[in-house]
Amino acid sequence: MAFYRSHVLVSVDPECVKRGAHQIIDALNDELVAQGLIDEIQVLETSRIGDPVLFGPDIIVYPEGVHYACLSPDDIPYLVEEHFLKGRIVEKFRAQEKKIVDEELGAPKAKEVRVVLRNCGVIDPNNIEDYIAEDGYMALAKVLSDMTPEQVIDEVTRSGLRGRGGAGFLTGRKWQFCRNSQADMKYIVCNADEGDPGAFMNRRVLESDPHSVIEGMIIAAYAIGARQGYIYCRAEYPLAVKTLNIAIKQAREFGFLGENILGTGFSFDLEVRQGAGAFVCGEETALMASIEGRRGEPRPRPPFPAVSGLWGKPTNINNVETYANVPQIILKGADWFASMGTEKSKGTKTFALAGDVKHTGLIEVPLGITLREIVYDVGGGIKDDKGFKAIQTGGPMGGCLPAEFLDLPVDYESLTQAGSIMGSGGMVVMDEETCMVDIARFFMEFTQEESCGKCTPCRIGTRRLLEILTRICEGKGEDGDIERLEELCDQIRTASLCGLGQGAPNPVASTLKYFRHEYEAHIYEKRCPAKVCRALITYEIVPETCTGCTVCARNCPVNAITGERRQPHKIDPDICVRCGICMQVCNFNAIVIN
Ligand SMILES: Cc1cc2nc3c(=O)[nH]c(=O)nc-3n(C[C@H](O)[C@H](O)[C@H](O)COP(=O)(O)O)c2cc1C
Ligand code: SF4
Ligand code: SF4
Ligand code: SF4
Repeated sequence: MAFYRSHVLVSVDPECVKRGAHQIIDALNDELVAQGLIDEIQVLETSRIGDPVLFGPDIIVYPEGVHYACLSPDDIPYLVEEHFLKGRIVEKFRAQEKKIVDEELGAPKAKEVRVVLRNCGVIDPNNIEDYIAEDGYMALAKVLSDMTPEQVIDEVTRSGLRGRGGAGFLTGRKWQFCRNSQADMKYIVCNADEGDPGAFMNRRVLESDPHSVIEGMIIAAYAIGARQGYIYCRAEYPLAVKTLNIAIKQAREFGFLGENILGTGFSFDLEVRQGAGAFVCGEETALMASIEGRRGEPRPRPPFPAVSGLWGKPTNINNVETYANVPQIILKGADWFASMGTEKSKGTKTFALAGDVKHTGLIEVPLGITLREIVYDVGGGIKDDKGFKAIQTGGPMGGCLPAEFLDLPVDYESLTQAGSIMGSGGMVVMDEETCMVDIARFFMEFTQEESCGKCTPCRIGTRRLLEILTRICEGKGEDGDIERLEELCDQIRTASLCGLGQGAPNPVASTLKYFRHEYEAHIYEKRCPAKVCRALITYEIVPETCTGCTVCARNCPVNAITGERRQPHKIDPDICVRCGICMQVCNFNAIVIN
């Protein structure tokens, strides 16, 4: 297969054809022959570029991705000489920047850099030609025609890409392990089980740019020598499953999947498998058991999947975002990727920013950015201009970091050192009115519920942790509870079989470390400093402020409020169930929490 240094995609949508697209193609080919460049530059037709009504006829030159518009055949000799011979972009022919904005993502915010999300909202995920027009499958063509599997692994290793699913293992090294395993069959798996509550980074990529994941998987398959792949996608993502199946079908039709890909003799195919709701099935050994049709339970490692994975064969398993980075690394080079991030954490990372920030949602930022920049520059600061209290990174097994860590760079090592994790990209910001004991209880409720029960420290230990935390929040904390929590955290962390048990104590351990005074206030003073834990608060009416309007009394679901019209009202604390409705409906701010 010939390798071209540049590809020129000419739009042949009806509008562009009407405006002379075919004459542009002829003029380009003639000029490339005349200037001796026809073996280096390939001219291709594509179904659509940009907005045909505004521009037309349009061309895009790759790998630079330069978009020229409103061309006439007379412009072509100058364009070919300047762009392809002299390497200078011809600004006067350049199209105005596309202004397509993804509704869910919105326009990139300050400090955002979109690599993984670059095509989201820009291309039609159900049209492979859209992806091709945005340099899609060029990395695959380059790999198959110009690179050995070792060179591919070397490029990915040099880029410094680390797994985006949680553990942050070096992707190139993982591929090398799998390549080194000798077997008659090898597999590639994409972990699309995204189960962290509130996280939807992977869903967005699968629904908006499925081919970037598929292309990354084909490249990985070539690198390790696999012939079959599976995308394990959670069943709660029906649109992602549908989009993936359409994309796989189209990739087969275009010769990117199946037998003899692009005529190179390399064969690889893909299937989507659906996971049915168990968080633990995101753990790689449980995931593989689930694909094999067995109960999704983790097993001890080693052997690692690279040695013995699906059906006992060497298997490479990576996260959606990890694969989506690969085509860009191949096209733009390891050095480009490694130029973003920190010494040990390269590239960008997507996060689902949630909680008490002004702008919640999906973001993609270069690693090494500080937590402060994420909260204040990207997230717009704390809602209602309240104070910052903590940020929880890494999903339900992550830790809560206080304000003193706001200038911490977001990288794998720094977060772990601080007592949290990168995880797959969950990020919850909490304001000053958050109770950290209650937050620890909330996350423990999730992990305890999701424990598969295979090993005792996790099955019983998380339940004991939850019981103690619940007791403390209910005002029944006892002397010695803090020590009991610490001991349990240590035992569960060290004795659990898989990452769920090993990580489950993180929210408790980190809040004990950084917000110990809140535990002490709950246990010894029977007080919730954030005024959140119902059992430890009382609602009271300030007589001087109360106008006796009766609104609260009429809305109280348990008739706990009494008082004459135009006279100060009173709450009976023995009847009150602390629902907070009276406080919401009082127009005179006469109700306070003590
Ligand atoms: C309980 C649990 C849930 C996990 N869920 C996911 C998940 O939803 N997606 C994912 O990619 N990795 C998940 N992982 C991590 C995987 O086990 C594995 O490390 C990852 O898929 C490897 O891909 P990477 O190297 O590209 O990160 C989970 C791990 C644990 C312990
Ligand atoms: S640590 Fe928890 S989730 Fe993991 S195998 Fe043991 S019981 Fe199951
Ligand atoms: S709603 Fe407010 S002002 Fe009206 S009676 Fe109740 S506490 Fe008093
Ligand atoms: S908090 Fe709820 S139950 Fe208590 S007094 Fe107000 S409305 Fe009634």
